[in-house]
Amino acid sequence: MTEIEQMPDFRLIDHKGYKIITNIHSPEELEKLEDGEVYDDDLFVVTYPKSGTIWMQQIMTLIDAKGDLSASQSKLTSECFPWVELTEFAKNFASRPSPRLYCSHLPWYLLPKGLRQKKGKIIYVSRNPKDVLTSYYHFHFFANMLETPKDFEDFLDKFIDGRVNGGSWFDHIRGWYSHKDEFNILFLTYEELIKDLKTAIVKITKFWGKDLDDQQVNNVVYHSTFRNMKTNPKANYEEIPKTMLDQDKGSFMRKGVIGDWKNTLTVAQNERFDQVFEEKMSDCPLKFVWNM
Ligand code: A3P
Repeated sequence: MTEIEQMPDFRLIDHKGYKIITNIHSPEELEKLEDGEVYDDDLFVVTYPKSGTIWMQQIMTLIDAKGDLSASQSKLTSECFPWVELTEFAKNFASRPSPRLYCSHLPWYLLPKGLRQKKGKIIYVSRNPKDVLTSYYHFHFFANMLETPKDFEDFLDKFIDGRVNGGSWFDHIRGWYSHKDEFNILFLTYEELIKDLKTAIVKITKFWGKDLDDQQVNNVVYHSTFRNMKTNPKANYEEIPKTMLDQDKGSFMRKGVIGDWKNTLTVAQNERFDQVFEEKMSDCPLKFVWNM
């Protein structure tokens, strides 16, 4: 039997208005996670999928290692910086030793409630939704736990309706932004990282309370550029098993640019997206960068 034939049953299901995947997420463990105790030195990187999570994992791991790539390479990213909502990590939330680093795609109301008393820190990274949509579309062709889209139009419908893992992009960002004052949170954008990586890394370092000299910061920048991450197997998730990601069909480190949506959306699809964006986001003060 091939690996593909042995694949678990991955289905998208609803959990409290959010979309999760059977066999990697568990409603029971997520329910318990909400009451998990939070410590002051916990740090969560929160994103909607395809907003630069892997990039932040690399940056945070390097900051922790003061820019020393070899120190940051000793463990798999998925172990030292895991997704808290994956069943195996949600289950072991209480027993994981401090300081705990996690990433998450969960909406604001599903992470442990203690974060809302400003215990622990959160870095939220957003990205313009047309590039998220484009990146996510390509990701669905090699992520085996996600349904392969019929075509882009079909995926656009699902993305707009929030019928994808991570739920609605609009709800995710609006929820996190409107509740930001309850959390100890730093809001960043993918686009500001692209435009000035060093300034963003200095901001992150300060927020986290780490002390790095200029050379150490330069090393973090160097090892977290798209080019260097793409050729570093520890930084680009080559370790993920084929049952989850078939990296012969695509790559986490795909293009890494602002504005690739222009190569994918037709004029009509773009106009439709603009209309939905206007309807859902007109009262939200967040501004997005759509082009470089
Ligand atoms: P593209 O598919 O547009 O290239 P996530 O980790 O949340 O799934 O996000 C993946 C996206 O972040 C991909 O976008 C990937 O190329 C981009 N990315 C990852 N590391 C990057 C880096 N160092 N510089 C720029 N983009 C990066």
